[in-house]
Amino acid sequence: MTVYFIGAGPGDPDLITVKGQRLIHRCPVIIYAGSLVPAAVLEGHSAQTVINSAELHLAQIIDAMQLAHQQGLDVARVHSGDPSLYGAIGEQIRYLRELGIPYEIVPGVTAVAASAALLGCELTLPDIAQTVILTRYGDKSPMPAGEQLADLARHRTTLAIHLGVKHLERIVEELRPHYGGDCPIAVVHRATWPDQDWVLDTLDGIVRQVQAKGFRRTALILVGHVLASDGFAESALYRASHAHLYRP
Ligand SMILES: C[S@@+](CC[C@H](N)C(=O)[O-])C[C@H]1O[C@@H](n2cnc3c(N)ncnc32)[C@H](O)[C@@H]1O
Repeated sequence: MTVYFIGAGPGDPDLITVKGQRLIHRCPVIIYAGSLVPAAVLEGHSAQTVINSAELHLAQIIDAMQLAHQQGLDVARVHSGDPSLYGAIGEQIRYLRELGIPYEIVPGVTAVAASAALLGCELTLPDIAQTVILTRYGDKSPMPAGEQLADLARHRTTLAIHLGVKHLERIVEELRPHYGGDCPIAVVHRATWPDQDWVLDTLDGIVRQVQAKGFRRTALILVGHVLASDGFAESALYRASHAHLYRP
């Protein structure tokens, strides 16, 4: 018996991995994060028990896993995007280890990857930005020391901010001194869902645009000059004069 933490991807049920889908089809117990995982991801399952974890607290989720373990039943624990990012799997894993219940993680397509795909851009351009910082806005759960937005913005890298759209005005104020008011910023709402939408503007202009669209939840904020740059150097990888193992 194993608990499989499965990344469901950003919304579109076609964006789950083959491995994740096979497990969902065959596991007799499914526990899914119903606030962000669409029901369509579970289509074709043959489970005898399907639980929406959005309605449960941690102890109840662990109880359900422990019961499945006692009955020798595999569990598909389905999280949105990739489970390793803001999925709260760390605390579940700690209990599983204590209880001696085996687990495995099946990765998924992140909201960051889905949003970059929707915008049709690369997040790492030579000479512009070679680093992407994935973070979240510290609202109810504070950020650790050294991880305030201003600390991260100082690097002027590409920045992906989760769980922050409600605080966009404050975020813009914190970023502007570091990136400049003309820096491109995108807010991607429900990437890959049927009602997906997005806005691409500058730090100076984004708040008005997002207010007009009414995005309040499930939106990713991407910031950085890679979002609107055509004046960058080409990569060494495909440069004709650059030799490497596969192109001596
Ligand atoms: C709890 S985090 C989960 C992140 C997820 N584990 C991942 O790998 O993308 C939820 C936040 O991720 C972002 N997010 C998740 N799905 C999204 C989507 N389809 N489009 C845009 N942002 C999304 C939003 O910022 C949302 O508030």
